[in-house]
Amino acid sequence: MADDLCFFFKDNLILKPQKTSSLLLRIIVLVCAMLCGVYICSVHLKRISAGTKDEALSVQVVRGQCLVPHVEPWEKPYVHYPNPETFRRDECACHPVRSFAILSTQRSGSGWFETLLNSHTNISSNGEIFSVKDRRSNISTITETLDKVYNLDWLTSASKRECTAAVGLKWMLNQGLMQYHEEIVEYFKSRGVLVIFLFRRNHLRRMISILANSYDQNAKPLNGTHKSHVHSSHEAEILAKFQPTINTTLLIPNLRQVDEMTTKALEYFRSTRHIVVYYEDIIKNRTKLDEVQDFLRVPRIKLTSRQVKIHKGSLNEQVTNWDDIEKTLRGTPYESFLNADYKL
Ligand SMILES: *[C@@H]1O[C@H](CO)[C@@H](O)[C@H](O)[C@H]1NC(C)=O
Ligand SMILES: *[C@@H]1O[C@H](CO)[C@@H](O)[C@H](O)[C@H]1NC(C)=O
Ligand SMILES: *[C@@H]1O[C@H](CO)[C@@H](O)[C@H](O)[C@H]1NC(C)=O
Ligand SMILES: *[C@@H]1O[C@H](CO)[C@@H](O)[C@H](O)[C@H]1NC(C)=O
Ligand SMILES: *[C@@H]1O[C@H](CO)[C@@H](O)[C@H](O)[C@H]1NC(C)=O
Repeated sequence: MADDLCFFFKDNLILKPQKTSSLLLRIIVLVCAMLCGVYICSVHLKRISAGTKDEALSVQVVRGQCLVPHVEPWEKPYVHYPNPETFRRDECACHPVRSFAILSTQRSGSGWFETLLNSHTNISSNGEIFSVKDRRSNISTITETLDKVYNLDWLTSASKRECTAAVGLKWMLNQGLMQYHEEIVEYFKSRGVLVIFLFRRNHLRRMISILANSYDQNAKPLNGTHKSHVHSSHEAEILAKFQPTINTTLLIPNLRQVDEMTTKALEYFRSTRHIVVYYEDIIKNRTKLDEVQDFLRVPRIKLTSRQVKIHKGSLNEQVTNWDDIEKTLRGTPYESFLNADYKL
């Protein structure tokens, strides 16, 4: 066939020079059409056989373009472009995402802190995910859970979906963090997870909050429902009416234990990129929250929370045995807890 065509072509070229141009044109068009057909066919077949590969390739190309602006070399390990399995990031696929973890202790204002962060359109903090024991039963369940969170595939009411710029969770020290600290530090460093320590300076106030909260768990003065956090001053007043009695024999050992645990946590996680935030400092001056927003590289906005503080005012009104507590703490390293007060 090819030979025939060639001969035919040659023949025409020699014998009928006047018709050459039109015939030549026809042949060129024919060859072009054939080549086009073969090309389209082969591309189509490739698409069918490797559809997913094709998609991955296009995402990488998009990522290649995303990486260029505003990222300092030192920051690169902390900048991620997740490709969630549960939804598409669409127009925000090019927006970098930071991963973070709030490491804290119970009744340190972390619930309130998290509602503040979640009032930001670009922050998703997904709560106390590791309060569920199964998720922290071993290091593989922990990393599996973290992978999901940081890939934006952990769906909670806090998920902002496609335009999230910082994604994380709240994690209590006694929820596997101390137990698996070596592996978790390794994970944080290799995945570029930013750590926010949130602690309370006054552990005595924290202790009162713990006792009151556990009382509320049983007594439920708010119409029979247990509430760790409240949204109205009326509810806060009711909860604050309860005055716990602090066991003074256990007071100093308890305070020391909390002290040691937070010191140890700071030590363990020292090599991660982190900031330390104190609850009292945020209460005193909300501009502290700007530092947190800068740390997460999200645009600064005014963060808000509907939560109302339960215990306010001076400490001596909040417990039944203030005199004993005072006597126990005077002259100890914890004496300052007696005086430290803050206005709201
Ligand atoms: C934050 O979210 C808004 C609205 O979804 C979006 O327009 C904006 O680009 C996001 N900002 C960043 C830094 O991702
Ligand atoms: C980790 O825990 C999960 C669930 O409790 C279990 O299925 C899995 O076998 C455990 N893995 C290891 C390595 O121990
Ligand atoms: C209990 O419920 C009633 C009626 O819904 C309401 O008026 C009252 O304020 C509630 N009390 C508390 C302590 O929330
Ligand atoms: C305080 O705790 C100690 C140790 O658990 C216990 O022996 C003691 O009875 C407690 N005191 C009070 C007043 O509950
Ligand atoms: C809060 O802190 C910022 C800087 O950290 C300071 O400029 C500002 O004056 C402080 N505001 C108050 C009310 O103390």
